[in-house]
Amino acid sequence: MTQACPFAQTLERTARGDADRSAAEFPLMPVGQACDMGRAADGTPLIDPRVFDSAEFFRNPYPYYRIMRDHYPVFRDKLHNCYYVTRYDDITRCYFDDEGFNTIPKGSSSGVLGNTQLELSGIEHKRRRNLYGQHLVGQSLEARIPIIERLADSMISAWDDLAAEGTIVCDQGGVRTVEIGRAFANEFPISVVCGVLGFPEEARGQFYYWYNSMMSGLGGSETQKMGLEARQDLEDYVQGMVEERRVRPTYLYDRDGKAVGKDVISKLCETKIDGDYLSTEEITSNIALVVGGGGETTRGAIMNMWYLLLQHGDQSGRVLADERLWDMVFHETLRHSTPIGGQPRHNSFDIVMHGQRVPAGSLMNMVDVSANHDERIFKDPERFDVFRPDLYTGKLLRSGFASQGRHSHMAFGVGPHLCPGAWIAHQEATIGSRVLSRRMKNPRIRVDRMPKDVDGISLAPVGLGSVRELWLDYDLA
Ligand code: HEM
Repeated sequence: MTQACPFAQTLERTARGDADRSAAEFPLMPVGQACDMGRAADGTPLIDPRVFDSAEFFRNPYPYYRIMRDHYPVFRDKLHNCYYVTRYDDITRCYFDDEGFNTIPKGSSSGVLGNTQLELSGIEHKRRRNLYGQHLVGQSLEARIPIIERLADSMISAWDDLAAEGTIVCDQGGVRTVEIGRAFANEFPISVVCGVLGFPEEARGQFYYWYNSMMSGLGGSETQKMGLEARQDLEDYVQGMVEERRVRPTYLYDRDGKAVGKDVISKLCETKIDGDYLSTEEITSNIALVVGGGGETTRGAIMNMWYLLLQHGDQSGRVLADERLWDMVFHETLRHSTPIGGQPRHNSFDIVMHGQRVPAGSLMNMVDVSANHDERIFKDPERFDVFRPDLYTGKLLRSGFASQGRHSHMAFGVGPHLCPGAWIAHQEATIGSRVLSRRMKNPRIRVDRMPKDVDGISLAPVGLGSVRELWLDYDLA
């Protein structure tokens, strides 16, 4: 016998098909508390799956994931016809078992991004990943670091001109106000990737437009056409470049103008599989994936890093005084508020997990943000603490997820699909933040310009995703 669910009436209407399924049915709760969706006879809190579509959930999903971790570690969502896996240990086990929990067919992105490694599993995935991923790590990446620093510096120098327009950067009484998203973080990661790939400087504006169109194309049928057209235009453009670079490869240069190696597109042009060169279509899909995977995510990481850090004055004081600590800010931000909620998998076989039967071929959502807040792994997980002793913040782990008695966050996934852009994202976010912190004296959040939480006073929580706007003030030297 269950107690009455406060949403019973709406549920009834949903069953009749005439319900307004909007989020407004769920009250906005104080941050950290879940709304009461009723209880089972033994007192176990119930989860009403419509909450997953609600504003309350997007604003702060963590109390709901806590209920799921504690009571339904594999939650069957009958409304959306899928399962959620929410504990850190379970998710890592599934991610490492590429055969039992495959990425085929993910389907959501293939239309716009093309045929990419995201949706491959097993041997074919490994082959493709080795081919492309090598250009984003190790020595190849080291060689590209000067580009990242140079770009951050030149973007911030351009603020002086933007201040004259007075929209996203404005000066008053020795204080500069800047919206870090539009003035820096939105374009910075795309420009880095563009440079590393080897797109000519003059094509970057166009490239940014294609990127934005492809990203909105992932959002649904209305914008998909725009995304598909953008991808087609990108492919046409890349075709010309590929033909040229097959004959005349181009190079990346360090600060002193010395060539440090071929750009990624030039390298891909000379790559062969089984004796055949990669086709233009294959190269374009890889470019689309790298750009799609590395733009919004890294933008979100930079925004969240500054948003969270500056709300914790004791910690920001130490970080701004010692720029080596940006590495820890990066990792703790990705643990506390990662820009990607999780990843879908399909189980290849019938399984039973935590007593829940899951038939083969079911959609199983691995909830990375919940793993990052699993109190079985991270003490007091809702607290943002750059200095927490249970989080691994050392050199990024290539495989595995625990070292020196600490666990890494799950923001990059683990196992065969572990984000190959993790190393470059780390460099972008930390180098970008170091350059920003050198150029901004006494930075603080410009509270009156920021979106507020429902109380109209406190800053809005990050919730699922990342902050869109971040207004900062700093003293002009
Ligand atoms: C903070 C920034 C980033 C986050 C949080 C992030 C997160 C992720 C996650 C969770 C996955 C795993 C997908 C899965 O398990 O199915 C992934 C895959 C991927 N990411 Fe990232 N990513 C970031 C930055 C980047 C960057 C900068 C690039 C490229 C330059 C990139 C390229 C990719 C690619 C190509 C994959 C597919 C890997 C595969 O399926 O083998 N990502 N990313």
